[in-house]
Amino acid sequence: DTHEKFVQCLYNYSHNTNSISNVVYTQTNSSYSSVLDLTIQNLRFSNSSLKPHVIVTPLQISHIQTTIICSQRHGLQIRTRSGGHDYEGLSYVAGVPFVILDLLNLRQITVDAENQTAWVQSGATLGELYYSISQKSKTLGFPAGVCATVGIGGHFSGGGYGFLMRKYGLAADNILDAHIIDVNGNLLDRKAMGEDLFWAIRGGGGASFGVIVAWKIKLVPVPSTVTVFRLERTLEENATEIIQKWQLVANKLDERIMIRMDMARVNSSQHGKLTIQASFVSMFLGGVEELIPLMRKSFPELGLVRKDCNETSWIGSVVFMNAGLIGSTGNEAPEVLLNRTQIRSGKYKGKSDYVRKPIPIDGLRGLWRLLYDDKIEYGQLQFAPYGGRMSDISESEIPFSHRSGYINHIHYVVVWGEEGNEATQRHMDWIRRLYKYMEPYVSSSPRAAYINYRDLDVGVNNNNGYTNYTQASIWGFKYFNNNFKRLARVKTKVDPHNFFRNEQSIPTLQKEE
Ligand code: FDA
Repeated sequence: DTHEKFVQCLYNYSHNTNSISNVVYTQTNSSYSSVLDLTIQNLRFSNSSLKPHVIVTPLQISHIQTTIICSQRHGLQIRTRSGGHDYEGLSYVAGVPFVILDLLNLRQITVDAENQTAWVQSGATLGELYYSISQKSKTLGFPAGVCATVGIGGHFSGGGYGFLMRKYGLAADNILDAHIIDVNGNLLDRKAMGEDLFWAIRGGGGASFGVIVAWKIKLVPVPSTVTVFRLERTLEENATEIIQKWQLVANKLDERIMIRMDMARVNSSQHGKLTIQASFVSMFLGGVEELIPLMRKSFPELGLVRKDCNETSWIGSVVFMNAGLIGSTGNEAPEVLLNRTQIRSGKYKGKSDYVRKPIPIDGLRGLWRLLYDDKIEYGQLQFAPYGGRMSDISESEIPFSHRSGYINHIHYVVVWGEEGNEATQRHMDWIRRLYKYMEPYVSSSPRAAYINYRDLDVGVNNNNGYTNYTQASIWGFKYFNNNFKRLARVKTKVDPHNFFRNEQSIPTLQKEE
């Protein structure tokens, strides 16, 4: 039996059999299900029948090396899981015999405040990283994502953005070194892996190239006082005009201000009916005294006043933004960021788009008609403004190519709790309809997308067998545009037999390609 031979191989290769046997879970192990379910973030996949033969939760590098060697020998695929937030469940669901390499025990974080750097292992969460930084310094931060439970491994290797993006770019723009284990089981740092592979894992998705164990990051300066606000405006409260102005100015504001705009249907108690509400969620790297005049000058339509704003520390702003997701007050102590199981939002499907010019009013009205659909439980669009540092970085600096020319990025999500296939189909159909509707208003050729909002609708590989470059380009150009060819060249060099693969892994090149 394949998986028994695989497990035997792990034991044979292990110098210390005891240490690896404690971290190997086969389907008959009583903890198998709880380990598997622990970080399944999208409940759309929680009852999937496509389960791993074995789960390995390494405690040390040698456990990963052994798993890579034995999986190849016994014909099992590897899915590496860090935080388990993949939108399509690619880190824990596969239609082929496979092993999950779950890095949840590899979560060490070492902050060097003096040199403004840190080493962080892939199995740590963003919340753990932010918390560790704040324990060492009140004036250092890191520009990565908003939700505290997101895993470092997937997030950094796919880009990673949050409220510091306009000032400092993406998480992947601020990586100095990394430790990866390649297909031969070799542990490589930046120098040993070379600049091509180091380039590829900063935005090209880690899963195609090996297992990234740890990252060295550059911390960024933040002032001791920052200002946050969340302002909500319905259509009855002039949202239309404010949204139109936001589209014109959000990417041009002082790069210390990031105002995300979230749009959804709400039941307005004030008006006793359904309406559309835009939420303006913002962080400013400075005090309220400086923010108010800046906003009065550039974005008076929002009507921001002092009482809408909270002055806090940078870590306080992280708690505030995270609270928007979990519905708490936002004033909790930063320890709340260490809770790994705080959100299980339900079943969901996400998509993404990039915008080059403001959506005209007719386009917005059609969008609202779709949001009014009462047969879906919850649908939302989040618009994240670009500009600032994002426009300064060249399209080929790292694999993430969406830079100047884009005014903002849209994240679409539909979330539901209702059981059954019919409910799933209804919500999936809705978000696909929305995506189709948006086509004239967003980027085209390619219609750009963000790999960290993984969406298998944009194209997939043949999971059994070879996928050529041309076929993979259908999805590859959307995520990486002109960087896709270089990613394929790196892949061909470091994993020529395409061992590390999934539905959207980078293909190897044939001689003529
Ligand atoms: P997971 O473990 O599922 O891995 C994702 C992919 O990376 C898989 O293909 C996996 O195999 C691979 N991988 C993981 N670890 C690896 C490793 N060590 N080596 C090699 N390959 C590895 N994004 C964003 O930019 N800003 C944001 O604010 C948010 N917010 C957010 C909130 C919520 C609730 C969710 C569910 C998601 C987000 N995201 C996000 C998207 C997030 O960045 C994306 O899902 C990341 O890939 C998640 O990384 P995990 O390690 O958690 O995922």
